[in-house]
Amino acid sequence: MRGDLAGLIAATIKNLLKDLKEPGQLVGFLIWSKDMSRQKNPLDNPKNRGAQTNMVHGGTTRSQYGETSEAIFMNSGFTYASSEAAEARFEGVDPGHIYSRFSNPGVEMFQDRMASLEGAEAARATATGMAAVTTALMAQLRAGDHVVAGRALFGGCRFVVEDYLPRWGVGSTLVDGRDPENFARAMQPDTKLIFIETPTNPTLELVDIRAVAEIAHAHGALLVVDNVFATPLWQSPLALGADLVVYSATKHIDGQGRALGGVILGSKELIEGDVHTIIRQTGPSISPFNAWIMLKGLETIDLRVRRMSENGARIANFLAEHPKVERVFYPHHQSHPQYDLGKRQMKSGSNMVAFEVKGGKQAAFDCANGLSIIVISNNLGDAKSIISHPATTTHQRFDDATLEELGIGQNLLRLSVGLEDADDLIADLAFGLDQV
Ligand SMILES: Cc1ncc(COP(=O)(O)O)c(C=O)c1O
Repeated sequence: MRGDLAGLIAATIKNLLKDLKEPGQLVGFLIWSKDMSRQKNPLDNPKNRGAQTNMVHGGTTRSQYGETSEAIFMNSGFTYASSEAAEARFEGVDPGHIYSRFSNPGVEMFQDRMASLEGAEAARATATGMAAVTTALMAQLRAGDHVVAGRALFGGCRFVVEDYLPRWGVGSTLVDGRDPENFARAMQPDTKLIFIETPTNPTLELVDIRAVAEIAHAHGALLVVDNVFATPLWQSPLALGADLVVYSATKHIDGQGRALGGVILGSKELIEGDVHTIIRQTGPSISPFNAWIMLKGLETIDLRVRRMSENGARIANFLAEHPKVERVFYPHHQSHPQYDLGKRQMKSGSNMVAFEVKGGKQAAFDCANGLSIIVISNNLGDAKSIISHPATTTHQRFDDATLEELGIGQNLLRLSVGLEDADDLIADLAFGLDQV
């Protein structure tokens, strides 16, 4: 077999030699032909590799320099050998990059690596998580359509669903997402999409993805899931029936507090169709530099999120036993009202924990103010542990009735558990709670 191939190559070289103008072309051809004759290794196909391998290698392409770590393609445009070549590129006859608003080699590496991690056919990256959410929704909706969404959403996402969509002629209904029947009851003939977040920010309520996907599909609607709190490691919405998954890559994907980013994942049809077109035409595109940061973040996401989640579970247990804590919210803690769903839908409880301090707002402030290692901030998914008071920060714009409906009390603190020594974090929280 190899002999035949060598003979074929020799004959082809003979034929080609007369056309070669430079010695470099011959060398290039010989390297190419050697590569072609190499036995195919099953691991060449990312589908045959383990998830951790794809987190390190997925999507990697190399420039002519053969760099080990991925290159950053910090360029807005691309050149063409001739006007005819430019015409062919724009016609789509010659596939390739045109302009970084709609595609870039480094951004593509991040997208492909994300897709291999999520088990998605395709992905598109965006400048922020909010750009991912807004783009995913706008790509599918037209004036006159209707959306049903879980009412417990990150503040920005709820703003888009509740305020912006109606401004653009898209009706929206918010429901208590804990019971799938609430989605079924809210469906209207023109409902085109259901949008959920699970676990929710900040009270860690859960939505049954499989049940809600079935309701959406029975009505011919799509299900879009914001999977930020669960991370791609612990929950796979596409496998549970979701049509699109969105992330704020700013969170666990970067995981080191350096850059903003977002990503949308799903079928080739949805992503390469409406999602790609709206990014191309409206421009919520990620910077190639930020895409590179996210790409490198994915190399260590498994180690980081695994460790943060182990710390999270230990801290949830500690808080649940503490006399100054009213209640703890953690999907894999037995006290969680949807514990069975949490165990079924998520491989781990993840790193996000919320808890109510006995005594109200001042008690929560005293606890947070007493901390040393855990910093007060509103980001999450970071290597550094972060605490926030949702009622006065991320969810400040909601009136008292809405805060009560969402279960966001003045004594609630949200904790994003980081990579520090878990014993130190527990000692820090014990000290903070002593100040109450
Ligand atoms: C659940 C959730 N979705 C979306 C976002 C928005 O992400 P970004 O800040 O990257 O725009 C956030 C930000 O905190 C979030 O927590």
